[in-house]
Amino acid sequence: MMREVFEEGRGHASGKVILLGEHAVVYGTPAIAASLAHGARAVARRSETNRLFLGNKELPQDDPLHPALERIRTVLGAPPVELRLELDLPPGCGLGASAALGVASARALADLSGQSTSQRRISEAADAWEKVFHGTPSGVDRSAAQENGVLRFVRGQEPEKLVLRRSLFLTVAVASPAASTRDMIDNVARLRSANPDQFDKNLEAIRSLVDNATACLRSGDIRSTGRLMDLCQMILSGWMLSTEGIELACAKAREAGALGAKLTGAGGGGCIVALCENDAMSRHVQDALLDLGLEAFATRVPQ
Ligand code: MEV
Repeated sequence: MMREVFEEGRGHASGKVILLGEHAVVYGTPAIAASLAHGARAVARRSETNRLFLGNKELPQDDPLHPALERIRTVLGAPPVELRLELDLPPGCGLGASAALGVASARALADLSGQSTSQRRISEAADAWEKVFHGTPSGVDRSAAQENGVLRFVRGQEPEKLVLRRSLFLTVAVASPAASTRDMIDNVARLRSANPDQFDKNLEAIRSLVDNATACLRSGDIRSTGRLMDLCQMILSGWMLSTEGIELACAKAREAGALGAKLTGAGGGGCIVALCENDAMSRHVQDALLDLGLEAFATRVPQ
């Protein structure tokens, strides 16, 4: 269906935290992700050639966001654009900034073209963008960027939105310098090749943590969800994805009252997520992490 062609197209998308199941999700195990209120916005205008701005800064033609934009244009059949991007998430540290930028951009280009574009087409365009940065993304970051709330995600399937009994109160902190997602995925793949039987046992353990956490979130058992997150962190540490900074931040969050804490996203650095009983506790945990000198914020995921 065609509609009016606009001078300007707009799109927005959410960042995310993975509550349980990162990396294992690449191998077909389920993961649970929560969309954040923080995310990305994009404004697209027609232009003779592609131009890209992040905040006030124009990005040079050799910036990797340029080939990523080309991929979106190819999928959507869109003309060259001037694309202005705004991000209110720390980039590259596990909060899904690149997927949020990809979904926001795809939505802005679709909006500009005046065609009604299906969710599936936006997903395809944003996946093409993500592949420039992550090689073989599972799609969990992109799914969370497109949705609100908490998702149970299995690679290649429609994500299932979880109906929560209670809102979730989270504290997020940047625990140590970020590592490349692609490198972390490659490291995990090497562990798998070195010891496939052991790796499969860990995948099954993560599957069972995710299944239990799904049931706990549905029934409002936040305490048990926190314990399951701690157990997931142990497996991720065993895959060498944790760092001293991540361990210190998780310990500090638990000491300050968090019900569970773990790395979130690719690991090797980047963010932790801590689950809290209520708003006051998530702010208390945030203060404890700020005292460590970390960038931290408290957020609520509505039920
Ligand atoms: C990154 O946020 C999550 C990973 O599992 C990669 C992916 O699923 O694409 C590490």
